[in-house]
Amino acid sequence: MVKNIIKTKKLLILGAGGMLASDLIKIFQNSKKYRVIAWGIKDLDITNEKMVNEKIGKLAPDIIINAAAWTAVDKAEKEFDKAMAVNGYALKNLAEIASQIGALLIHYSTDYVFDGKNPNGYKENDEPNPESAYGQSKFVGEQMILMTAFHNSGKRCRACGAGHGCGKIKVIKPLNYYIIRSSWLYGKDGKNFVDTMINLAGKLPELKVVNDQRGSPTYALDLAKATKFLIEKKFPSGIYHFTNKTSKKGISWYDFAKEIFSAQSGSAEGRKITKKVKIIPATTKEFYKGNKNYLANRPEYSMLVNTKLPQARDWKEALKEYLLGSKASK
Ligand SMILES: NC(=O)c1ccc[n+]([C@@H]2O[C@H](COP(=O)([O-])OP(=O)(O)OC[C@H]3O[C@@H](n4cnc5c(N)ncnc54)[C@H](OP(=O)(O)O)[C@@H]3O)[C@@H](O)[C@H]2O)c1
Repeated sequence: MVKNIIKTKKLLILGAGGMLASDLIKIFQNSKKYRVIAWGIKDLDITNEKMVNEKIGKLAPDIIINAAAWTAVDKAEKEFDKAMAVNGYALKNLAEIASQIGALLIHYSTDYVFDGKNPNGYKENDEPNPESAYGQSKFVGEQMILMTAFHNSGKRCRACGAGHGCGKIKVIKPLNYYIIRSSWLYGKDGKNFVDTMINLAGKLPELKVVNDQRGSPTYALDLAKATKFLIEKKFPSGIYHFTNKTSKKGISWYDFAKEIFSAQSGSAEGRKITKKVKIIPATTKEFYKGNKNYLANRPEYSMLVNTKLPQARDWKEALKEYLLGSKASK
C-alpha cells in the first residue's frame, strides 16, 4: 500500500502570549502540514542574541513567525530604548539566525511606519516616515530584515566576509522573508479597540471616539490565514500589506465604534451589549486634551494599500464574525 506522506514543516511562533500569535497557533495547528512550536517571552526573549542563536539554532525550524513585539504605543515614547530593542534590533538577531539555518522569516509591521499625511493611503513600496517612537522602532525592525537579506545574498569569502577576496568562497543562502504590515488589529486574546469599546459601554452612558484618524481594521484571524496563504502559495520575499477591506478612504475610529454597536453586529447574540450607549465623534485634539496617557503622534491617514495579495474580506463581515465568536460570552 502506498501511503500519502505529508512532509511536515517545523514552524516556530515567537511572542506566543500575544493576540496575533494566539490566532496563528490556532490556524497552523489545524493543519497537518505543520508541527507548531510556540514560544512566549519566558521561553525566548528575542532581544537576547545568545539565546536566540542557541535555541533557534538547535530547533532548526523551517519557518520562524515573529509575533513578538512591544505594542504599547504611548509607553514607547517614554521607553524608546526598550521598544527599539524588541521591535528594532531584535530583528537583526532573528534575520541572522533565519539566514544561517535557511528558515523563512515572517515578521509583522504597521501603518505607523508612515507619517499618515497621504489621504490616499500607502502602498508597499512607499517611503516610510514614522512620526512616533513605536513607528520608528518598527521601521528599524523592517530595515534589519531588509539589510540582512541584502547582505546575506550571493557569495561571500570565508576569510574576510566580503563578496570577493581570497577565493575561499562560501555560498550563503539568501534570506527568505515576509514583512507583513497591518493596522488596527483586533483578536480574541489581546487588548483591542473592539473589546475596549464594549467594556466601556458597560460603564459609561456615552463614549467620545476619534473621528479624524482614518484607517482599516484587521481581524487577527484573517491576518493569520493570510500568513498561511503567503507561505503555501510561495509568494516571493518582500513587504506585503494586509488589512480587512474598507473603501479607499478607510474608516474612522468613530465609524468603527458605531459599527460595533450597530444592530447588525453589536447586538448580535453572544456579545450581550444590553445598554444603549451614545457614540460622540471627537477630534484627536479634543480627545488628547488633558489626557496624559496619550503621548504618541498617530497617523491621520493609515490606509495600507494592498497591491500584491488577494483582497481580504470586508471589515464589517470580519467584525461580525468576531462579535459572534466564542469570546463573546465573556
Ligand atoms: N495591535 C495592533 O493594533 C497592531 C497593528 C499593526 C501591527 N501590529 C503588529 O502585529 C504584531 C502582533 O501584535 P499583537 O497586537 O498581537 O501584539 P501583542 O498582543 O502585544 O503580543 C506581543 C507579544 O510579544 C511578547 N513580547 C514582548 N517582548 C518580547 C520579547 N523581548 N521577546 C519575546 N516576546 C516578547 C509580549 O509579551 P508580554 O505581553 O509579556 O510583554 C506579547 O505576548 C506586532 O508586530 C505588532 O507590531 C499590531
